[in-house]
Amino acid sequence: MKYYIKTFGCQMNFNDSERIKGMLQTLGYQEAKDWKEADIILINTCTIREKPDQKVFSHLGEYKKLKEQNPKALIGVCGCLAQRMGFELIQKSPVVDIMFSSFNMHQLPELIQQAQAGYKAVAILENPPDDEDKLWDYPTVRDNPYCAYVTVMKGCDKNCTYCVVPKTRGRQRSRSIESILKEVRDLVSDGVKEVHLLGQNVTAWGKDIGKHFSELLYRVAEIDKVERIRFTTGHPKDLDEGIAKAMGEVGKVCEHIHLPFQAGSDRILKLMDRGYTKEEYLEKISMLKEYVKGITFSTDVIVGFPTETEEDFEETLDVLKKVRFEQVFSFKFSPRPDTPAYSMEGQVPDQVKTQRMSRLLQLQKEIMGEVAKSYEGTLQEVLIESIEHGNKLIGRTRSNRWASMEGGVEMLGKVVKVKVIRSYPFNMECELV
Ligand code: 5AD
Ligand code: SF4
Repeated sequence: MKYYIKTFGCQMNFNDSERIKGMLQTLGYQEAKDWKEADIILINTCTIREKPDQKVFSHLGEYKKLKEQNPKALIGVCGCLAQRMGFELIQKSPVVDIMFSSFNMHQLPELIQQAQAGYKAVAILENPPDDEDKLWDYPTVRDNPYCAYVTVMKGCDKNCTYCVVPKTRGRQRSRSIESILKEVRDLVSDGVKEVHLLGQNVTAWGKDIGKHFSELLYRVAEIDKVERIRFTTGHPKDLDEGIAKAMGEVGKVCEHIHLPFQAGSDRILKLMDRGYTKEEYLEKISMLKEYVKGITFSTDVIVGFPTETEEDFEETLDVLKKVRFEQVFSFKFSPRPDTPAYSMEGQVPDQVKTQRMSRLLQLQKEIMGEVAKSYEGTLQEVLIESIEHGNKLIGRTRSNRWASMEGGVEMLGKVVKVKVIRSYPFNMECELV
């Protein structure tokens, strides 16, 4: 029996899929290279913006052909869109046999049994069940043998007015430190060198269990074989001095942070309910630079939030100019059903969003070109993750930039020193030193 999983969305979703794969392999399934060979197809969905929603339905249209050759094949949908739409999704797309929410992935084995017996297996929960931690008992199946994601919390306690996540993933639930450390120990004994701690708002980890994220950084770093630690995503409001200090003190934590600012205008930030001003965001950036020598930044930005004026948008550009991010992920505001921003007055026409977006991209392109040039001639530390054509090594610097260099297969999984010869916005050509 073979499975095929199509994953949309964020790293959390990718990590969920790695765990679903682990569950399916425990049940005796193997991964199919192509969906046409599969006995079960699962789509792990995202609903953060309208586009990923639409993609799910076009994929379902394609995958339904599988049942023509293999009438016993099962099609399942899980993740955030499943959670948001519930039964409406299966009504719209009757080809779906299995559906479950983000809260009950661990029930997949039972759902498969029900579907095999000919029933529609639907388990959409309103709230996380008591036994959701069972999920951690399943192994993960990872493509990258050296860098691993570790989910440390689920859900989010913020109320950003544009965001579906508190609805699709529920309120914040931090995973216990023991459970996290156990997974990290297992990963490193399996050859993993870099652990990437994941959560919708990882900087708030621990707040619901009387702990602080800095403690987690110190404790993960105590595990001998861990060589590098990264984490995603941070929220500026929860990024405090304790975390900045820990990042600076723990040598294993990479000098990079993804810290979404979303908008530069204080008025828009207030409408988004982000809980900080532009000045406060910039102060957090200064604090991080003070504690963490050489730290680099990436961010998320929303363009065209309701009522955004030209002046508001200029404030966003101003933040880009001041911080000089290594990378900016920018999105046109997409009104999501059941969020406060959906029905706000002053929706910005798509044409204006497109035009602002292209100005933002142009500015960021210039900044990235300059940032890239500043790397030329410097020495960097790279963890080699893969090899192409037998001699091109590929890895990431501590500052989270892709780097390539000549070398042999014996370097895989090693941390090496390199000199940057030529640097481009998304890649650097280097030499081993
Ligand atoms: N419209 C556009 N972008 C959004 N994001 C979240 N919700 C929306 C929305 N409704 C963006 C934010 C977030 C990233 C993961 O997606 O920038 O940080
Ligand atoms: Fe998409 Fe958000 Fe769900 Fe991640 S948590 S899959 S970004 S909707």
